[in-house]
Amino acid sequence: MFLASIIIKGGVPLEGAIKISGSKNSALACLAASILTNETVILKNVPVIEDTKNMLEMMRLMNVKVNINGNALTIKSDNPDYKIPPHLSRRLRGSTLFLGSLLARCGRVKINGYGGCPIGLRPIDLHLYAFKALGAKIKQRKDFIEITADTLKGAAISFNFPSVGATENAIMAACVAKGETILKNVALEPEVLDLVKMLRSMGADIKVNSKRREIRVKGIKEIGGVKHKLIPDRIEAGTYAVAAVITAGKVTLQDLNVAHLEKVIKKLLEMGAEISITSESNLEIHPSKSSLKSINVITKPYPGFPTDLQPQFVTLSTQAHGISQISEMIYENRFLHIPELCKMGAKIDVFDRKIIVKGPTILRGSEVYAMDIRGGAALVLAGLIAKGSTIINNAEVIMRGYEKIETKLTRVGAEIEVIRR
Ligand code: UD1
Repeated sequence: MFLASIIIKGGVPLEGAIKISGSKNSALACLAASILTNETVILKNVPVIEDTKNMLEMMRLMNVKVNINGNALTIKSDNPDYKIPPHLSRRLRGSTLFLGSLLARCGRVKINGYGGCPIGLRPIDLHLYAFKALGAKIKQRKDFIEITADTLKGAAISFNFPSVGATENAIMAACVAKGETILKNVALEPEVLDLVKMLRSMGADIKVNSKRREIRVKGIKEIGGVKHKLIPDRIEAGTYAVAAVITAGKVTLQDLNVAHLEKVIKKLLEMGAEISITSESNLEIHPSKSSLKSINVITKPYPGFPTDLQPQFVTLSTQAHGISQISEMIYENRFLHIPELCKMGAKIDVFDRKIIVKGPTILRGSEVYAMDIRGGAALVLAGLIAKGSTIINNAEVIMRGYEKIETKLTRVGAEIEVIRR
């Protein structure tokens, strides 16, 4: 674990190309899924970020053999331990994804705390509800949760909210359950579908009905090995798209999946951004001819506007003319970046889950504090346009989700430096 600060000198329009890395959230789910088999799993396009490093370290401590070659991993889990290492599981929410895969593989799993960004309560009741429905027994104590099942049995499971993690965990456990599992009101984020693609290649029998938000899984006895390439990170792509627009830059984004950003691109166009979609994996952003217009954003489960891009759009709306309204419908506490943006000169009022941003405002370079990955990214974006220098402390949280952020932004002209301690 390291501590980091980011120092940015604002005012430079970005120019050049940025290659988008593999998806963090796909990586975490697919790494967990790699434990389902004793055959070799090869994962490609895995981002080298703190969250994947911690996930891999947990796997090593659980007797899983991992070979790293840049962004490609070879994984072999002959005899994984059922206990998730607590000192690391508390660092990221992704650690809860081992619950489904270890339960399926070992018939039991134990977790002593799980972490993640402090953006809400983030319980795991929906995950536990799914495991219980599949026949597992759950022992919940103050400092640990242990889940056991001699055999998992297919069941009908209807979520009261389309939770990404609960859907992923339920699918992984259902893959080896006896009979058919019908999951209703599931999450359909591209990362969930990437996991489904990987599991299908491992032999799983999974059918997705997106219109009905339903997934059917027929259990199989043995899950096999796979070679799987992760999808591009739509949140990283969205963050750099905002960086281009906010600095009035000329930036090409490469290697993304444009379709995954449909709602985000629509919002940027609505604000007056100049964007050309040059292929299904390339975007060109040009300086806007007119000033940016205010927007209304409401975060929703996919295909709605992603909560993970809400903070970045708050920074962008500080530069838009008029009053923007942004409502956060996924997390109850995802406005930790607002006081920091206000320190820099933003005019924002918070009303429970909705904020009102009055723009445009000139942002001033200040010393601010990153509380979570995406809120931290919002401060980086603010630093890029602020007058003078911005120091972002606790910036190690940003490194949890952005591969080579300093290199990628420096290459397009930003004056950014990361100081690690
Ligand atoms: C995943 C993503 C995260 C993203 C989120 C929503 C990973 C590793 N992280 O998180 O980046 O912000 O999806 O797109 O993939 N909830 C419950 N009970 C549960 C589970 C969730 O009440 O058992 C609530 C949460 O507190 C939250 C909401 O449901 O308010 C959404 O959570 P969920 O979709 O589960 O997000 P994660 O899988 O944790």
